This record gives sequence, structure tokens and C-alpha cells, in this order.
Amino acid sequence: MKLSRDELKGLMKNKMMQAGLKEEHAEQTAEILTWSHERGYASHGAVRVEYYSERIAKGGITNDPNITWKQTGPCSGIMDGDNGIGYWVATKATEKAIEIAKENGVAIVGMANISHTGSIGYYTEMCAKAGLAAITFCQSDPMAVPYGGTEPYYGTNPISFAAPTADERNVVFDMATTVQAWGKILDKRSQGAEIPADWAVDENGEPVTDPHKVNALTPIAGAKGYGLMMMVDVFSGVLLGVPFGKHVSSMYHDCSKGRELGQMIIVMDPERFCGAEQFKKSMSQTCDELGEMKAAPGYGKVYYPGERAVMRRDKAYASGGIEVVDELVEYLKGDAVHFNRYDHKNRFAD
Ligand code: NAI
Repeated sequence: MKLSRDELKGLMKNKMMQAGLKEEHAEQTAEILTWSHERGYASHGAVRVEYYSERIAKGGITNDPNITWKQTGPCSGIMDGDNGIGYWVATKATEKAIEIAKENGVAIVGMANISHTGSIGYYTEMCAKAGLAAITFCQSDPMAVPYGGTEPYYGTNPISFAAPTADERNVVFDMATTVQAWGKILDKRSQGAEIPADWAVDENGEPVTDPHKVNALTPIAGAKGYGLMMMVDVFSGVLLGVPFGKHVSSMYHDCSKGRELGQMIIVMDPERFCGAEQFKKSMSQTCDELGEMKAAPGYGKVYYPGERAVMRRDKAYASGGIEVVDELVEYLKGDAVHFNRYDHKNRFAD
């Protein structure tokens, strides 16, 4: 079913308020979920609302958190989210980082004790829209093996970079450090299909093609992805004093308990480096040059990171709205806050 932006956002906001979330927190969470869904990241869109609603209703997301800010230096600080909804805390922390970077040239802002923050490209794009360059990374629940290992130790630990251009484009690179998300394994299970051998491993750390035998996901690019995944955890977990590595809480383990996750954002003002105007002009030039390059057979065009996501968004609205599966719309419009489906589920459950 196709929904307009306002319809989808409004339904998600209402459901999370029904679960007990404060209006301004629900509004911003729904905004970011819509941002992801309209860009084709359905895995980080409306499908998440039921899980969040269960966690909100059961107290594992603090509905009225005592969010505190501790400035630890001219350019650094930590926002403690008191396990409030991650989307709200990360938005506030990013606003703070933008303010500091505009004043002092650079900002390094940690977020401690937060819940899931969704598609983290949203936060770097906020910085690019303010004319700044940014990188953010965050923890997620352990489900990937370290290179050469047999046990899940790190999460899909995503990284996002963004930079503005001299025109309306923003380059937004935004990726998980695992080859595939867990949701893709579930898709293959439901289709009765095999998975490619580089997606996941079994209990002996051997590659598997049967999606039912998956014990852990694999990092992108072997040892290099493992290194990235580890350093994401070091910068957004170890450095912030929150649980790290295999001690990071599981998404579904206990919906009545706060997740205590960490995220870090680093924001830079190009004015303090080559100059804002030159930076933005060069960014436009580099995007143009990439786009004008002759594409390899079968590729059509060379895109800059984030370009296809914006194209998916524009295409959705040009063709009548955002596609949302019917059952999800029924749930969003219905009376039930949640169906008690997530609490205490194993991370690898269907
Ligand atoms: P993806 O694999 O779809 O894209 C990764 C990056 O590659 C994007 O920046 C995209 O623009 C770029 N890209 C893809 N195809 C391209 C092409 N043909 N040309 C140029 N650039 C191209 O993303 P992935 O890794 O599946 O992540 C999806 C979302 O999940 C992200 O928004 C991420 O933040 C989110 N996520 C959030 C987590 C959390 O715990 N908060 C954990 C893991 C992922």
C-alpha cells in the first residue's frame, strides 16, 4: 500500500505515543524512520515501530529521560541519554555537535546510554545541511564474528560520513560493517533460498549457505572489515565507558531494561581547513566528475554515496507515495500497541 509522507509519519508517531512515548520524542523518531523508509531502507523504517512500541511500553526505553550534557573540553563532551529513545538523543547530541563545530571548528560528541538510533546517515546529513563535514559510528548488538573467530562478538556496527556540496546535493555514505544485515538472512529463510557463502558462518566459523545454520554474520572485506567493526566499538563504546564487544546488550534480550548503547559523532567545519566555499565547490566538482565518467558494462552510471537513496525517495513520491506492506499499515492503524513478539527472543530468531 502506498502512503504519503505525512500519513506514514503520523501513523508511526501516534503508535509510539500510544505506547507511552513523549510527543516530541515520537515526532522526531517518526521523522527519522520516514527518512529511512522513503530512501528505500525499509529495514530501518516502519517495520521497527512494533519493536520500539513493545520496548517503550515495557520500560526498556525511558519515556521521560533525564538527558544530561557534560562538556569535557572546548570541543568535546558526552550526552547521557538515560536510555531515552535513541533517535531523540542522537538528534540533540548532533545539534550540540553542530553548535560546537561552528564555534570552535571541530566537535567530538559522545552519546552514552542510548537506545537504537536507526539509520545513522540521518545525523551526518544534518551536519552536511549545516555546511559541515561529519562522521558518526555506533554500537549494535553482537551478531558478527571477528575475522577468524567462531563466536558473535561485535554488532553490525555502522559508520556514516557526510559532506555538503555547493548545490543541493549532500554526499551521505552510510553502511553497516557486516556483509549483510540479519534481516536479509530472514528473507532467504522465508523464501527457502540459500545465502551466498560470504554472508555468514556456522558454529565452527565455517561459511554456510543454509540460512538456518547461521550462527554469526561476517564482517565486510575480511580482516579489514573486522578492524573497522572493532574500531567503531572502541570509539563509540570503550571510549564512552559503556558496555563493549560481546557485553553490548541484545536488541530483544529484555525489553524492560535500557540498552546502554554508545554512539560518537565527529563534526568538522571546512572553513577551518581549505575554506567552506572551496570545500563545497570541490565536492560538487568531484560528484560531477564521478557522474560524468563512462560506466562499466551493466552499471549505467557512477553514483556518489547517497545519490541512489535520494533517487529512490523521489521516485516513490512521483509514483504515488511510500510503499508499506499492508499488514504493517493495519498494525499502525489498529488499537494494539504491540503483540508481545520481541521480548526475550534470541537475536537469531525469525
Ligand atoms: P547499503 O549497503 O545499502 O549502502 C551502503 C552505502 O553504499 C550507502 O552509503 C550507499 O549510498 C552506498 N552505495 C550502495 N550502492 C551504491 C552504488 N551503486 N553506487 C554508489 N554508492 C552506493 O547499506 P547497509 O550497509 O545495508 O545499511 C543500511 C542502513 O542500516 C544504514 O542506514 C545504516 O545506518 C543502518 N544500520 C543501522 C544500525 C544501527 O544499529 N543503528 C546497524 C546497521 C545498519
